[in-house]
Amino acid sequence: MTGARLLRRVRELVEADDRVVIGIAGCPGAGKTTLAGWLAEHLTAAGLPAVWVPMDGFHLADVELERLGRLARKGAMDTFDAHGYLALLRRIRAETATLVYAPSFDREIEQPIAGAIPVPPAARVVVSEGNYLLARDEPWRQVRAVMTEVWYVDLDDRLRLDRLVKRHIRFGKSPDHAARWVAEVDEPNAERIRATRGDADLLLDFDTLALSP
Ligand SMILES: Nc1ncnc2c1ncn2[C@@H]1O[C@H](COP(=O)(O)OP(=O)(O)OP(=O)(O)O)[C@@H](O)[C@H]1O
Ligand SMILES: [Mg+2]
Repeated sequence: MTGARLLRRVRELVEADDRVVIGIAGCPGAGKTTLAGWLAEHLTAAGLPAVWVPMDGFHLADVELERLGRLARKGAMDTFDAHGYLALLRRIRAETATLVYAPSFDREIEQPIAGAIPVPPAARVVVSEGNYLLARDEPWRQVRAVMTEVWYVDLDDRLRLDRLVKRHIRFGKSPDHAARWVAEVDEPNAERIRATRGDADLLLDFDTLALSP
């Protein structure tokens, strides 16, 4: 698969709709954010205004995770405001005449930031990405239904785990802590995410994806 073919695929979907929402699912570290950013940038450059809206913006804040006793497994399905994400996606589909703001996730402080990402009326494509876009548990099933297509990105586990550990270290974890976090928190989530792969509209292998224009 090439980036050019992905851009063409989205262009065809846009011809049938005022605004399309493309979702990208995949295991932690598989390349979802990188692919979504690439798509939004290149669609926009090709004349189709596109905005990246990450599911990560709906991480619950640490203060709430602490209250719930879930801080130690941040990233699991029940550590996100899934209904909030669904409501935002519905607004993005319905409110095409007004500016809609989406939250981002700041990796430096590991907290969501409200009002960080503008989705202007001109946006024809919204590229969203995250772990649980294909999950069958409610309300994720409804999240899937709001999206035009959901793609699933695979990456060989050795590469994926290596990149994931390195990213945790880059954002402040010690090498030991990073390795433990991947094994004890990220990988149980990965197993759950992998089980949803068969429901994707398109399977992509991140490593062989020729993204350069
Ligand atoms: N071609 C590449 N070569 C090396 N490293 C890469 C490449 N593409 C992405 N990475 C790195 O791999 C890591 C994971 O990529 P990315 O953040 O896109 O994955 P993700 O699926 O969004 O992960 P998460 O689920 O944790 O948010 C990042 O640190 C990124 O910088
Ligand atoms: Mg990401």
